[in-house]
Amino acid sequence: MNQFEEHDYSKEFDPHLWRKLLRFAKPYRWQLTGLGFVMIMVAVVDALFPMMNRIAIDRFIVPATTEGLAGFLALYGVLVVVQAANVFTLITLAGRVEVGIVHDLREVGFRRLQELSFSYYDRTPVGWIMARMTSDAQRLGDTISWGLVDIAWGGAMMVAIGAFMISMNARLGLIVLAVIPPLAVASMYFQKRILEANREVRKTNSRISGAYNEGIMGAKTTKTLVQEQANLAEFTTHTNRMRETSVRTAIFSGLYMPIVLTLGSIGTGLALWAGGTGVMAGVITYGTLVAFIGYTVQFFEPVRELARVITELQAAQASAERIMSLVETEPDIVDSLEVVARYGDSFHPRRENWERPSGRIEFRNVSFTYKEGEQVLSNFNLVVEPGESIALVGETGSGKSTIVNLACRFYEPTSGEILIDGRDYRERSILWHESHLGYVLQQPHLFSGTIRDNIRYGRLDASEQEIRRAAELVNAHQFIARHENGYDGEVGEGGNLLSTGEKQLVSFARAIIADPVFFVFDEATSSVDTETERLIQDAVQTVLEGRTSFIIAHRLSTIRRSDRILVIDSGRVVEEGAHRDLLALRGKYYQLYTSQFLEEEEEEVLAHH
Ligand SMILES: Nc1ncnc2c1ncn2[C@@H]1O[C@H](COP(=O)(O)OP(=O)(O)O)[C@@H](O)[C@H]1O
Ligand SMILES: [Mg+2]
Repeated sequence: MNQFEEHDYSKEFDPHLWRKLLRFAKPYRWQLTGLGFVMIMVAVVDALFPMMNRIAIDRFIVPATTEGLAGFLALYGVLVVVQAANVFTLITLAGRVEVGIVHDLREVGFRRLQELSFSYYDRTPVGWIMARMTSDAQRLGDTISWGLVDIAWGGAMMVAIGAFMISMNARLGLIVLAVIPPLAVASMYFQKRILEANREVRKTNSRISGAYNEGIMGAKTTKTLVQEQANLAEFTTHTNRMRETSVRTAIFSGLYMPIVLTLGSIGTGLALWAGGTGVMAGVITYGTLVAFIGYTVQFFEPVRELARVITELQAAQASAERIMSLVETEPDIVDSLEVVARYGDSFHPRRENWERPSGRIEFRNVSFTYKEGEQVLSNFNLVVEPGESIALVGETGSGKSTIVNLACRFYEPTSGEILIDGRDYRERSILWHESHLGYVLQQPHLFSGTIRDNIRYGRLDASEQEIRRAAELVNAHQFIARHENGYDGEVGEGGNLLSTGEKQLVSFARAIIADPVFFVFDEATSSVDTETERLIQDAVQTVLEGRTSFIIAHRLSTIRRSDRILVIDSGRVVEEGAHRDLLALRGKYYQLYTSQFLEEEEEEVLAHH
């Protein structure tokens, strides 16, 4: 079981957690106070109606008179109107609080998600994050507003009813209230069981979602590996377990409700019996008896509501715990206070203090691990001069992406340092680093929106002409011009309305528009059509001009263009130099070349003849 499956929330009520949540309720304290007040009003007015019945019977029906009836009816009317106004206020208030809290939670969570580093996303499944931001936020907003409504109402209702009964007739009141202790015992017993069963249901449910996620994400892989049978078997185990636990929850709930109802009937029975004898003896009026019967029925309504709210609170506590764990996760990569003082933070960058780097970057004794104990780089050293372009070649898993990820500061060295113009890059702000860096990754990601928006994302204040010039420079203009909506064309979610080649061209435009000092390109291995291929190669050529660049290269044409080739093996540079020299070595590069590139070269040669 990993940390992203449902934890075993066997914890009792966790006041510490709820206190932290108060922060989210605080902006709504006046609405919540108002809400509590309105709920007490609703409860008291509700509890007044049996009182009105008592008056009706004792004053008008039994004596068979209509004297003073007008006043009574007027009072009744006032109560009805007041109650209608109360209910209206409560629904609008609670609705507003709910929507507000859900919105605030999502906003805080979203902001945090943008601050978190790459390593967080390595550890955390996207499905888990989505569930926190959608269903957990919703459940929490819902419980904080409506749950409180129910608690205030239920509590006030029971107190009001108890007080009215005792004030009407203390002896009869106490007899009826005698059902409370067994009710409390039964409630505690069953609530505990129901909560446990619910927890089990949620745990299984999250496993099922997990399996679904895997199933959807990995559908293609599953098909090619013929894993459907195995996956299905696992999925069936989960769903069977889900059915068992759900049935168990239903049984407990099914037992609890009749017990509450029976106790309610016993209360009513006691009222009838003790009240009835009282009426016969002439010490209790008919009205009082009827009112008492009404109260015993009313008294059990909040009990059921409260039972439901307790279950919801438990679920909400689990939601709260998960949301807070997201909100409170600290990013691994942060600017130190001294850095913020000089360079500003992401909201208030102090660009006046930002120097433009010349482009020299040095890895000095850099070691790096993603996971404890699995050293990917150890004592890695590399100096890249301003404007130099470096091609990284090597087998899959050799550490090429890790090297550029570190250069991009997506991750920071576990030990050692990376220096830019002779200074550790941690002495400058993350935003400073980002603003001098352009990258085109293997699977370029675009944001839904227009092509123009995506290019402008590289520099938000870019003008229309600059956007167009950037696109022309990297050969993206041609295909954009052919697009039916031109620069206004929508790229779709993640850019999926464009082909891979087109996405790369847009990414190049996005990278170059910021005129970065450093450039990183993780070349896609998947082949694009020859025409696009040529456009991309030209774009690479343009972008490299005058920039310090790292290129994870798979194509000979790209490799040849770079100033220096590094052959990486198990996180080490095993050979370096120019294409010709490396070939002459007849070593690792020669091997790679003969197995991978020679074919490509032959194709090229054939194509030209
Ligand atoms: N996000 C990650 N979490 C854990 N291990 C990783 C991660 N990314 C890469 N690795 C591991 O680090 C090593 C180097 O990977 P990588 O730099 O991606 O190599 P390359 O880009 O040359 O294929 C591999 O053993 C890989 O399994
Ligand atoms: Mg890689």
